[in-house]
Amino acid sequence: MASSIIGLEGKVVVITGAGQGVGRSAARTFAQEGAKVVAVDVDGALAEEAAREIQAAGGEAMAVATDVTKADEVEALAAAVLERFGAIDVGVNNVGNFGRSTPATILDLDISFWENAISQNLRSTFLCSQAFARAMVQRGVRGAIVNVASMSGLRASVRLGPYGAAKAGVMHYTQTVAAELAPHGIRVNCVAPASINTPRAQASQSQERLQEMANAIPLKRLCEPEDVAKAILFMASDLSSFITGQTLMCDGGLSITSARPPMREDAAEARG
Ligand SMILES: NC(=O)c1ccc[n+]([C@@H]2O[C@H](COP(=O)([O-])OP(=O)(O)OC[C@H]3O[C@@H](n4cnc5c(N)ncnc54)[C@H](O)[C@@H]3O)[C@@H](O)[C@H]2O)c1
Repeated sequence: MASSIIGLEGKVVVITGAGQGVGRSAARTFAQEGAKVVAVDVDGALAEEAAREIQAAGGEAMAVATDVTKADEVEALAAAVLERFGAIDVGVNNVGNFGRSTPATILDLDISFWENAISQNLRSTFLCSQAFARAMVQRGVRGAIVNVASMSGLRASVRLGPYGAAKAGVMHYTQTVAAELAPHGIRVNCVAPASINTPRAQASQSQERLQEMANAIPLKRLCEPEDVAKAILFMASDLSSFITGQTLMCDGGLSITSARPPMREDAAEARG
């Protein structure tokens, strides 16, 4: 039986980037708590796969192919969810990262990295938050929005400057939107992970580098997608009922040490 203290049973939860990684894990976790999950991804086949997995386990889910950096597509997403489920209770702004941009210091940085990082992380968060908030306010839903930032937004992010700046923006915007939506009873919070042990990390980083990253973390292991999913669930649920405008570090204690954040292999060399 789902625990009533969590309060997510039957709630409509929209998760962006639900096709893989953290979003996929979050979709599974919310479904396990009885939520109706809307799996959103620019890759429609991945979104379908996430929704089918939940349905196969007896849960309720729908898939929507959406590029969350495009205003008209985000509007269509909100309309599709409202038509199917009648409300949006929780919105999870998980899409982020910086695509295929080449890490570089400011001396060599290509403007396309800047534009891509701001679009993927900040613009998407703004567009979806606005759509979620409007849907909630119009229907009197006292919902929750959870943004996903990164430890890169907390400290200098050498060679990944645009990504760090965008994630710092996500954390700051979380506070502003929380203040703006508080009178409507809508909570807005943020989860900021350290490097996550996603299949993508496994494929792109050597085992040596992953071990080095794990060793820098006080809990002596990498952050798993499930760790982040549980932090997101906490911020979306009744367990955090009096918490708003906050960023929860999901980093195994890394941010409380003087260690620098573990670096991706392709961004590490400038650190010496
Ligand atoms: N992976 C890490 O090490 C790490 C560390 C800290 C923070 N984060 C943050 O966690 C979040 C999830 O990271 P991840 O590594 O699981 O994600 P990911 O890069 O693996 O992508 C997740 C999904 O997002 C989809 N997607 C990408 N662009 C999209 C768009 N414009 N519209 C809709 N869907 C889109 C992809 O198709 C993919 O299925 C991101 O915000 C990321 O910045 C990740």
